Amino acid sequence: MGRPFMSKSLLPGARALALIVLLLLTFAKAQAQSIGDSFLPLPQKLALKSELVALGEKLFYDTRLSHDLSLSCASCHELTRGGIDLRDTQGVRSDRFNAPTLFNVGLHFKYFWNGRAETLEEQIELTVRSPTVFNNDWSRIEERLQGDASYRPLLQRLGSGKKLNAELIKKALAEFERSLVTPDSRFDRYLRGDKEALSHKEKSGLQLFKSLGCSSCHQGALLGGNMFQKFGIFGRIPADRMISPRDLGRYSITQKEEDRYVFKVPSLRNVELTAPYFHNGAAATLHDAVSIMSRAQLGRELTDDEREQVVAFLKTLTGEWRGRPLK
Ligand code: HEC
Ligand code: HEC
Repeated sequence: MGRPFMSKSLLPGARALALIVLLLLTFAKAQAQSIGDSFLPLPQKLALKSELVALGEKLFYDTRLSHDLSLSCASCHELTRGGIDLRDTQGVRSDRFNAPTLFNVGLHFKYFWNGRAETLEEQIELTVRSPTVFNNDWSRIEERLQGDASYRPLLQRLGSGKKLNAELIKKALAEFERSLVTPDSRFDRYLRGDKEALSHKEKSGLQLFKSLGCSSCHQGALLGGNMFQKFGIFGRIPADRMISPRDLGRYSITQKEEDRYVFKVPSLRNVELTAPYFHNGAAATLHDAVSIMSRAQLGRELTDDEREQVVAFLKTLTGEWRGRPLK
């Protein structure tokens, strides 16, 4: 058996075609780069198992996950108002972290401010066992939930013989978290080619965001969430708030000097709704956060005008959840 389409007479034609395709692709890539640079729109369609998402959503609001029945995931991660709680920090003792939004959380490369969890499932495991959060163990949770008839219809939809055990609870909660994507912000529309989606001021803000160097750390689909970086490259600011063990960043996990004050670069998606800012909630407003970033990470004081423009751009990152704009 020969391969007729590879006959010599057809090869030059095929080569020319390949060349044209290559040129077109290069052109398209250059186009995309001139608009998007290192940014990507959030996915509009997700390949998730809807039965698992539904089960995860019910679990998200279930206070029986906490030992003393006082807390559910939603107690600290509200899914209205940008997905955060309104107090500045959460947890007890001196180790209070600012609770991050769970919107778009499935797209992060690691979890927690210091990245100590590799997966969403591992993050849940740590939350359930943590003495300052749920302070619980799985056998107690399984016992409480397995007797609850209200979970039965959801379990049946997943198939016969499914038991609400630790593994399934983590799987379902994680799948629900992966469903919390907020596409169709004005910036996404701009990235997809709608040049009118941003105002002149917002476009100037985007240009500044790139030329100043913010996008060297805040990039990709989340404008963050894909690397660790030191907070305070040009000095630890604000120093008076960097006082507790939580402020050491990854150092508290690795004990390596170079990891001191190193944190996951947070996503800036929906950032206008997620005040206060930073791992310790040290900045109350977006204006403050932008000034601190510019000073601490880039060694540069912004003019009021520049700061306004960057903030205006950041406000175009507010997306939609379940077809409704986040507020
Ligand atoms: C008592 C408040 C509280 C409760 C209850 C709580 N969390 Fe959190 N959550 C936080 C805080 C504070 C952080 C940040 C802690 C850190 O970074 O060390 C966090 C971090 C996270 C993160 C990491 C986000 C990121 O960007 O890295 C995820 C995911 C998460 N929580 C999911 C959940 C889920 C799912 C539940 C329920 C099983 C839950 N949380 C219950 C307060 C809470
Ligand atoms: C060298 C890397 C780097 C650069 C450059 C950088 N950032 Fe950040 N950014 C971070 C890190 C790390 C944090 C988290 C710091 C913390 O909470 O301790 C952060 C946090 C933020 C936050 C707070 C987000 C939240 O949810 O709490 C905002 C807003 C922000 N950056 C905006 C900017 C802007 C605007 C610029 C450019 C002027 C910029 N960043 C430049 C690494 C960087």
